Amino acid sequence: MIILGIETSCDETAAAVVNGLGNNVKVLSNVVSSQIEIHQKYGGVVPEVAAREHVLSILPVVNEALAKAKMRTHVDKKFAHVRRIDAIAVTVGPGLVTSLMVGVETAKALAFGWQVPVVGVNHIKGHIYANFISANSKYKIQNSKQIQKPKFPALILTVSGGHTMLVLMNGHGKYKVIGETLDDAAGEAFDKAAAMLGIGYPGGPAVADEAAKLKVQSSKLKVKLPRPMLNDKNFNFSFSGLKTALLYAIQRDKKWKEKISEYCAEFQQAVVDVLITKTIKAAKMLNCQTIMLSGGVASNKELRSQLNLAIKTKLTNAKLIIPKFKYCVDNAAMVATAGYFKAIKKGFTTWQKLKTHAN
Ligand code: KG4
Ligand code: ZN
Repeated sequence: MIILGIETSCDETAAAVVNGLGNNVKVLSNVVSSQIEIHQKYGGVVPEVAAREHVLSILPVVNEALAKAKMRTHVDKKFAHVRRIDAIAVTVGPGLVTSLMVGVETAKALAFGWQVPVVGVNHIKGHIYANFISANSKYKIQNSKQIQKPKFPALILTVSGGHTMLVLMNGHGKYKVIGETLDDAAGEAFDKAAAMLGIGYPGGPAVADEAAKLKVQSSKLKVKLPRPMLNDKNFNFSFSGLKTALLYAIQRDKKWKEKISEYCAEFQQAVVDVLITKTIKAAKMLNCQTIMLSGGVASNKELRSQLNLAIKTKLTNAKLIIPKFKYCVDNAAMVATAGYFKAIKKGFTTWQKLKTHAN
């Protein structure tokens, strides 16, 4: 089944074509047009500006994804014999409402024109399904050629700019949120910390780059920040206190501008410590042998490598699956993949029934 995926929930206009067969999904094309440079000068995403950019980019991006996948639509008589799109998967929410609407309405218009069915995808589930992209995913344990397929029950740490959740997955379409952030998402905390330190937007990569400049072990850092809710019995998170602690720390420290790398390293380590501790605790309690990472913050190299190490040393037989970097941040291949697995279980809908769900 060949699916066109569309993603416009925030500031990336993305389209991808995937081919799903059984439990395997192969990416045929994956195009992302980022608006980062446009929003950088505002220090964050401006919803109205984002929506306007999506309107301008969506058709060129879809066209490029179709061309790269060598797809033609059935309306193109000249190419009627070549493969065509069977269905369209699109992110319906959560996200910025006017941004989402551009993707959803485009999907509807294309479905109407091509007379194909559609499937609405939840953005967070899209991130989770980045782990189910066959072969293109990093289906392997670090330093090993072994291919690891997800086994249920699986535990997913899904961390982005808009959400932070621990999700228990008992099968395709069977999710249970076992913990989530009570305030800021992990990516949002990185973005706010970077803004305080004046190192740019988006904050996650900026903090990670600064932290990487420091050659001191994190345990030897003089700067100390809290690990919120680390020892709580539940699996919830809270990052707004950490952000405030950073603010107070730099307000007290007259020389903070000379120690930006140190503050970044400690901030990053505080986030990583909390995320990993809770993930390991939950995996033990729920007896999950597959652990997956997803969302923009899953691009964080320290999180990837430290989680891998923690799983190896603290759990027996559990395996970690991490999507490739390009499938961690917003993209449409993950949306098409989630759409494929939803469609083969629950079926498609029609363009008339597809709706945007901003929350
Ligand atoms: O998944 P995503 O592209 O969009 C949302 O659904 O929110 O995630 C974007 C978030 C941003 O907050 C960004 O700062 C964070 O992911 N991020 C990172 C890294 N790369 C992106 N956070 C930490 N380390 C990174 N390397
Ligand atoms: Zn996202």
